Amino acid sequence: MIIRVTDPCKPLDFPADVPLEVEVGCGKGRFLTGRAALHPDRRFLGIERIPERVRCFDAKCRRLGLANADVMRLEALYTFHYLLPCHGIDTVYVFFPDPWPKRKHHSHRLFGPRFLNALHYRLKTGGRLEFATDHAEYADVVEGCLAADGRFQSVEPMARGPEEWTEFETLFRGQGLPIRSAAWEALADPGERPLAPLAPAPEDEPREGVARRESHGKEWRLANAEGD
Ligand SMILES: C[S@@+](CC[C@H](N)C(=O)[O-])C[C@H]1O[C@@H](n2cnc3c(N)ncnc32)[C@H](O)[C@@H]1O
Repeated sequence: MIIRVTDPCKPLDFPADVPLEVEVGCGKGRFLTGRAALHPDRRFLGIERIPERVRCFDAKCRRLGLANADVMRLEALYTFHYLLPCHGIDTVYVFFPDPWPKRKHHSHRLFGPRFLNALHYRLKTGGRLEFATDHAEYADVVEGCLAADGRFQSVEPMARGPEEWTEFETLFRGQGLPIRSAAWEALADPGERPLAPLAPAPEDEPREGVARRESHGKEWRLANAEGD
């Protein structure tokens, strides 16, 4: 089912006694719907911002008759920060997140202090983060972030056969690209404090100027008042 959020400040309700697994950027849901079919006693939630992929995920759920898998069309950092249950998630999957390879786009990357805070706040103690990417530099960054964060402990990633590969993974492995997988367990944090309100990073704030369409409508860039 597609979960439609009518109140963006109201946390979602999940039964505390049913294990919950969440996939960030779940795409069309190949991995998560497959897993939901194998584990009817667990609850699965996909978070994905592209509407067409959300619809594909939902269509798969209907085709497979899955009553235990849902998908939301929302931004992942926001969802983790405000909507998911506090220490209520057993496993978070982040498979092939957009790597934003250009330095000027690094601020768009999901992994950073804000996501790690929200992730830890939502994972159960002993809950897991499962991660995979084909992008070596981003893998180094993510592994570095987690190694430097005492609230997480590196563990062996889950073993997944071809039937549990994601859409992108199936493509990348088919091309023979090397894939990096890693996993971490959330540890108790005795000094934990509630999450501070989510303020945009300064580099994400809109700059003054006028947005103007250029390059046959493919790109937007800012032109200032004295504009060229
Ligand atoms: C490279 S694709 C990988 C999709 C899928 N995980 C797979 O491996 O096949 C990354 C996906 O994450 C989604 N995504 C990226 N950033 C997101 C965000 N902040 N919130 C929600 N979805 C996001 C994109 O729309 C895209 O579908």
